Amino acid sequence: ISLKSYNTFGIDVKARFFVEITGLVQLQKALELKAYPKKFIISGGSNMLLTKDIDALVMHIQLKGITVVEEDEDTVEVKVMAGENWHELVMWSLEQGYGGLENLSLIPGNVGTAPIQNIGAYGVELKDVFVSCAAMNLKTRELEGFDNEACEFGYRDSIFKKKVKGKYIITSVVLKLTKKDHVLHTGYGSIENELKNKGIVHPTIKDISNAVIDIRRSKLPDPKEIGNSGSFFKNPIISKKTFDKFIKKNPDAPFYEVDDNQYKIPAGWLIEQCGFKGKRFGDAGVHEKQALVLVNYGNATGKEILFLAKKIQEEVQKNFKIKIQPEVNIIK
Ligand code: EPU
Repeated sequence: ISLKSYNTFGIDVKARFFVEITGLVQLQKALELKAYPKKFIISGGSNMLLTKDIDALVMHIQLKGITVVEEDEDTVEVKVMAGENWHELVMWSLEQGYGGLENLSLIPGNVGTAPIQNIGAYGVELKDVFVSCAAMNLKTRELEGFDNEACEFGYRDSIFKKKVKGKYIITSVVLKLTKKDHVLHTGYGSIENELKNKGIVHPTIKDISNAVIDIRRSKLPDPKEIGNSGSFFKNPIISKKTFDKFIKKNPDAPFYEVDDNQYKIPAGWLIEQCGFKGKRFGDAGVHEKQALVLVNYGNATGKEILFLAKKIQEEVQKNFKIKIQPEVNIIK
């Protein structure tokens, strides 16, 4: 079957075998199937670039359910199954009046994959609300728990991208949200502006969510219309020494100070400076409003997108002596 509608990049590759996973026992059983030795997990398909047909049993994770597992006057802990859509969870939490997820509105993908890359936007990361997750060990087919510390979260990073890469399927996630005294994160420049433009002085969590949704809609392409995986690259983090040289040559460049010795440069700026913004090569392109997002205008292959990504990396390296690395998972 074609996986085109199962990945937000809209890449048309085929799966040798395919199964929808709707229960934990079924997941265990599917992992035990000896007839299909190779397994491939797909969830929201929002952070991957498929470059060839998948000669494996593709398991589409459709585990559903949201339950409150603990609650006191101030906070609530919710357990969310991996196959729930991330943005629908955010909307649900806001309807309940729960705070913590509002800055993470409209991020594509499913709940189960959110911890893998520690999704983040507008000054908030998943790790700020994350309590724990359950994950099935592919070898033992037992469920194991990972608390916040065990996940080793970093910028768009976790243990699931490093030490235990490809060894687990996350089946559910527990998040801790606020019921009152919400901690609002409006410091991120564009949110402040957006609220100001709307004349909102005392924003609610819903106002923040709406501001984020409006900003994202204005900059980021909707995968339903144009295939994409959000930011294709991570923003590079460079040492103070490299930064000092860089900023001397590029005094207008935007940057964030990570700590005394580390600076983050927006890759979108670097890519735009190299002249790629809005460029199109066949059906593979660089989004016209955000150079960090690579897009599939229809029938681009994964290899064509990858070729464009390589070209961008080379140009950024040549012009700025800075290495940028993909954020999306490239399936080769
Ligand atoms: N910029 C340009 N040209 C561009 C794009 C950006 O000059 O084409 C400049 C902007 O002017 C701004 C700076 O780069 O000064 C930062 O841009 P923006 O606020 O759009 O954020 P970003 O660093 O490009 C990151 C995340 C996004 C997240 C936003 C908001 C990464 C890799 N990306 O993008 O996450 O939504 O911040 O917090 O960290 C994603 O991961 O898929 C994603 C969309």
